[in-house]
Amino acid sequence: MSLLTRAEAALKLHFDAAAGNGAPQRLQAAMKHAVFSGGARIRPQLCMAVATACGDDAPELTNAAAVALEFMHCASLVHDDMPTFDNADFRRGQPTVHKAFSEPLALLTGDGLIVMAYQALLQAGRPYPDRLIELMDNLSKGVGLPNGIVAGQAWECETTADLGQYQRAKTGALFVSATCAGAIASGQAHAPWAPLGAYLGEAYQVADDIRDVLGDVASLGKPAGQDVLNARPSSAQALGLEGAIHHFDGLIAKAGESIPDCNCRDMLKQLVLRESERLVPKSMCEDYRKQAALVKAVKWA
Ligand code: IPE
Ligand code: IPE
Ligand code: MG
Ligand code: MG
Repeated sequence: MSLLTRAEAALKLHFDAAAGNGAPQRLQAAMKHAVFSGGARIRPQLCMAVATACGDDAPELTNAAAVALEFMHCASLVHDDMPTFDNADFRRGQPTVHKAFSEPLALLTGDGLIVMAYQALLQAGRPYPDRLIELMDNLSKGVGLPNGIVAGQAWECETTADLGQYQRAKTGALFVSATCAGAIASGQAHAPWAPLGAYLGEAYQVADDIRDVLGDVASLGKPAGQDVLNARPSSAQALGLEGAIHHFDGLIAKAGESIPDCNCRDMLKQLVLRESERLVPKSMCEDYRKQAALVKAVKWA
């Protein structure tokens, strides 16, 4: 079974179990829309891949940890898209939750998914109390203060922010939680796996900044040009596109080098390279360079 198939099955199982029966229909529909709308599931796949490298001796716990990460991620996207944040109309090629269901339901969808994340961990973690506590702590670090998603998004409310700190918090931290969760769920030390999550997660946000400039709504499934529109700190603005691509390549190389010695090293390296090509395809960079050279030539003609 592929990691993606395993992730999708676990998400469905935990979603249905936690939603139970009798909750308001529109809330259930909005939460389903938020989770089952075609995300790449990179965080759960990363968690499961690291768990495999660590022996995966408690696969149900790994699945729950992977699901908890994705529920948190989906909650962060729903809130991020709301008018009070990025005011985005599309996500994953579909109307955002507040557009399809209303702002109150989008707020509640995010809240509900955050609680569901902990419910998933509790559901599978009782036979492993030590691992459960560590997984809850690990997830909380990726989402909360001082360096998780919430802190990261809050840098947007300050007058100045360090770009790297902002990116590592709003996106990198949950990737660190993802790699560490795979080790913790398998009863192994998590520290050796943190750098892989940190480098890949930061690369992910740098890629998102590049795609925000070079992509369009059809290819991204979400609006492009948002960083300038919302005055967000962005690698593309700070470093220029060429500088941002160079920074991305460097982070991807470091992610590959940071994978601990284990019998899944090649599989993990492939995962990193596959993500790199999916996020910032070489053809996209070449097209941009050709375009830039043409503009330069016309300017000097
Ligand atoms: C989007 O994350 C937001 C960022 C952190 C850059 P993903 O690119 O993982 O989004 P989905 O889950 O595949 O839609
Ligand atoms: C990352 O921020 C998303 C979250 C931390 C929720 P962005 O605002 O850059 O992500 P997109 O572009 O909306 O996916
Ligand atoms: Mg945002
Ligand atoms: Mg956004």
